[in-house]
Amino acid sequence: MPARERLTVAVTGPTGEIGRSLLAALDRSAGVERVIGMARRPFDPSAHGYRKVTYHRGDVLDPVAVASLLAEADVLVHLAFIIMGSPTQTRAVNLVGSRNVFAACTAAKVKRLVYASSVAAYGFRRDNPRPLTEDVPARGSRGHYYSAQKAEVEQVLADTLAGSDTEAYVFRPCIVAGPDAPALINNLPYTQISRRLPPSLSGLLGALPLLRPVLPDPGVPLQLVHHDDVASAMLAAVLAKGPPGVYNLAGAGTVSISQIASELGWHAIKIPHFMVDATAQAVASMPLLPAQMRWIQAMREPVVMDTTRARRELHWRPKHDALATLREMIAAMNDD
Ligand SMILES: NC(=O)c1ccc[n+]([C@@H]2O[C@H](COP(=O)([O-])OP(=O)(O)OC[C@H]3O[C@@H](n4cnc5c(N)ncnc54)[C@H](OP(=O)(O)O)[C@@H]3O)[C@@H](O)[C@H]2O)c1
Repeated sequence: MPARERLTVAVTGPTGEIGRSLLAALDRSAGVERVIGMARRPFDPSAHGYRKVTYHRGDVLDPVAVASLLAEADVLVHLAFIIMGSPTQTRAVNLVGSRNVFAACTAAKVKRLVYASSVAAYGFRRDNPRPLTEDVPARGSRGHYYSAQKAEVEQVLADTLAGSDTEAYVFRPCIVAGPDAPALINNLPYTQISRRLPPSLSGLLGALPLLRPVLPDPGVPLQLVHHDDVASAMLAAVLAKGPPGVYNLAGAGTVSISQIASELGWHAIKIPHFMVDATAQAVASMPLLPAQMRWIQAMREPVVMDTTRARRELHWRPKHDALATLREMIAAMNDD
């Protein structure tokens, strides 16, 4: 690519689990001239050896900071989001912040906007097809703040960009994991919930040696995608290696909660579906519970995605399957 076509890429939320891998991929890419990151915490790109990355502290709720981030950008990657929090805490950053970013992209005539939505945008619904393709509408789950917000933000994106020159690449990754993305284990809803199960189940758990954690397994298959594979898909979008549109992202294969427990050296116990439903309903009616517990909703129905479109259109070739991703994450945790 001639030097004059090399891109300036702005990134909101580059300090998070996906952002860190993305910065490394952008910094290595011959098609990228400059990367400008923005989030709230302090971050020093030179400490990571990046040559092209600069960083400004700023909040997506501040339209001036967002406009300044975009002043020279050809492409914007929007990752700033609050995943764990109460419905009201998260709504400001996720809805208002995203709207600010999308509107600023059209005002600045940014060529491409790459947005990390989520599998959760489909909603955890019994009537969803399996596997989910990108043609399935993103309806979200009203009972789950993150899922509902992810669906709503996709609609805000479509409405804001309608009629503008900015093209949108919307990714719907499954759970992101890997050595630099331990949030799956840190936030496992069952790690929290197993301490608060009904007495009947606590009795069963009591029969097991409780020196190691016990994860209740509702039998739902989980897809995982490695953070570096998410970064490679996003880099393909930044460089317009395929058409704009919506893309599912997941590594090959699935893992079960029992497999996760076994890889961690923990225990698992199978639990019936009705118990997950009952717990999810109880959790939904308790506003003061930790955000992690609300994620039990995600265990009510399998949400398994088809990733043919990303492979075909963006030539995406994830290097890690679900089990390899899990194992890399656990090995890194054990090394710490
Ligand atoms: N991780 C997953 O399993 C997963 C799966 C599917 C989709 N996604 C989506 O991918 C995106 C990135 O996820 P992630 O896992 O990288 O999240 P993360 O690790 O929680 O990082 C979030 C990033 O957003 C920044 N941020 C939060 N509030 C901000 C604000 N008001 N202004 C500016 N920056 C702000 C954070 O930095 P500061 O706190 O310093 O501001 C951080 O850099 C999110 O939209 C998420 O929903 C994630």
